[in-house]
Amino acid sequence: MPTLLVANFKSNQDQKHAKLWVQQFSTHKPSDLSVGLVLCPSFTHVELMKQLCIDQNIALGAQDCSMFPSGSYTGAISAQSIADSGVSYCIVGHSERRAHFHETCQDVANKVRECMSAGITPILCITPEILDAQAATLTEQERAACCVAFEPITAIGSGTTDTLEHIIAVKKRVAVVFGRVPYLYGGSVDQHTNPQLLHSKEIDGFLIGSACVDASSFCSLLSLF
Ligand code: PGA
Repeated sequence: MPTLLVANFKSNQDQKHAKLWVQQFSTHKPSDLSVGLVLCPSFTHVELMKQLCIDQNIALGAQDCSMFPSGSYTGAISAQSIADSGVSYCIVGHSERRAHFHETCQDVANKVRECMSAGITPILCITPEILDAQAATLTEQERAACCVAFEPITAIGSGTTDTLEHIIAVKKRVAVVFGRVPYLYGGSVDQHTNPQLLHSKEIDGFLIGSACVDASSFCSLLSLF
């Protein structure tokens, strides 16, 4: 399986920036992409990035989805409706959502379920502190359907990644409760990240936040794979 790179744009882009990003990415992207790439724009830019994804054989992702099915949930965006927009991956349980939107492990489990019933692969973000509590909310089948992303809160946006040793140690813990699911790491990964970490066979992919905001730096990161 090629390394999976998941670009999480968070709430960083406005329409103008998103359009510019698409243009710059198309100009600078390595001609031979050797990674699996997932672009997760905000909901309002999904349509804008969709054509790029179709043209370049890139997967479209979402940063979140509703914990409820389609129905009378004002303001919510259901997994089914994002699937209809061409989304095939969805980040769930990001620490920013757990902290700022007070999402519980049960809420996140409901999102995993919604994703699965819409045919979307959940990218489930965890830290060691909540690993067991999160796993306990999911059935074995649900756990097996997730990509698990270890995202240490202190590493996110800090400019310093976690150590490879610790990332591997957490992977072992994840394997005990989730089985051999794709294991991603996120937290300050960019083109300057230690190549040993970037090319470690122990890590199946990366969640990229800050380093995807600028298309040409993101392309420099892609060219390292
Ligand atoms: P960062 O964010 O790359 O800016 O550290 C990663 C994430 O929050 O997924």
